[in-house]
Amino acid sequence: MKYFIISGASKGLGEGLAMALLKEDHHLLCISRSESRQLKTMAAAKNCLVDFFLFDLAVSHDIINLAGDIFRKIDKGAATGIYLVNNAGVVEPVNRVEDCDPDAVDLHLRVNLVAPMLLTTAFIRNTLDYEGEKRILNISSGAANNPYYGWSCYCTAKAGLDMYGRCVSEEQKNEAFPVQTMSVAPGIIDTGMQTIIRGSNERDFIHRDKFVELKESGQLVSPALAGKKIAHLLLSGDFRDGESIDIRDRY
Ligand SMILES: NC(=O)c1ccc[n+]([C@@H]2O[C@H](COP(=O)([O-])OP(=O)(O)OC[C@H]3O[C@@H](n4cnc5c(N)ncnc54)[C@H](OP(=O)(O)O)[C@@H]3O)[C@@H](O)[C@H]2O)c1
Repeated sequence: MKYFIISGASKGLGEGLAMALLKEDHHLLCISRSESRQLKTMAAAKNCLVDFFLFDLAVSHDIINLAGDIFRKIDKGAATGIYLVNNAGVVEPVNRVEDCDPDAVDLHLRVNLVAPMLLTTAFIRNTLDYEGEKRILNISSGAANNPYYGWSCYCTAKAGLDMYGRCVSEEQKNEAFPVQTMSVAPGIIDTGMQTIIRGSNERDFIHRDKFVELKESGQLVSPALAGKKIAHLLLSGDFRDGESIDIRDRY
């Protein structure tokens, strides 16, 4: 049995990834504030175990306990691989720096950066004695490497997530049973996050029209296709410890 802990599998890319991983010998452990009924229905049809842990990842101090509940579902003796995909994320606040609400900045960093960091801490602690394949995939963005006007929080959190993954890799690489870590920018995907981006104010986000144009010219990738590519990367020999890549450069 392979176990997949996936944050943000209720919709968007996370749901597409979870759909791609539905197999009889897979067990999906999904974290989000709501469930995907479609995913549960498809999972039942494919005889794949899916558990949803309804949890707000902004509540940083409960994440280690949440991970404890998740790992109680994992039979390490029977596991042929344990995987964590830090996918859940938000784009807001979309504002110039001086217009950002302090609470919104704090919330953004807790969801996009602190939560993946603490899930990683818990993952490493809970798999210390596990000798099989252990991989963490962080869902990043081109915004990790390029500053965008109006996206100071998003760019900062994604850049931080990439660097965090590299630090984890540095610590793990000489362990007897290392956890491998990688970051991937998934391309521009037709999800609720893109709807929020297109709905932002031109004054706050000066690239808004470019994103409207990408949608109108059919250039957004479906969550299903993006999910398949991410699933392939996660399980294949293309997974390279310590690297940050853009999926569009690979597949
Ligand atoms: N869409 C793109 O073009 C694009 C491009 C580059 C990178 N990405 C990255 O891809 C990832 C997925 O984005 P998406 O486009 O699929 O966005 P989305 O459709 O808005 O989905 C976001 C997911 O994150 C979960 N989430 C958000 N806040 C949460 C919280 N406080 N607690 C728990 N779960 C939370 C949501 O679940 P609930 O609402 O049920 O809690 C949902 O499942 C993000 O990391 C994003 O930065 C997306």
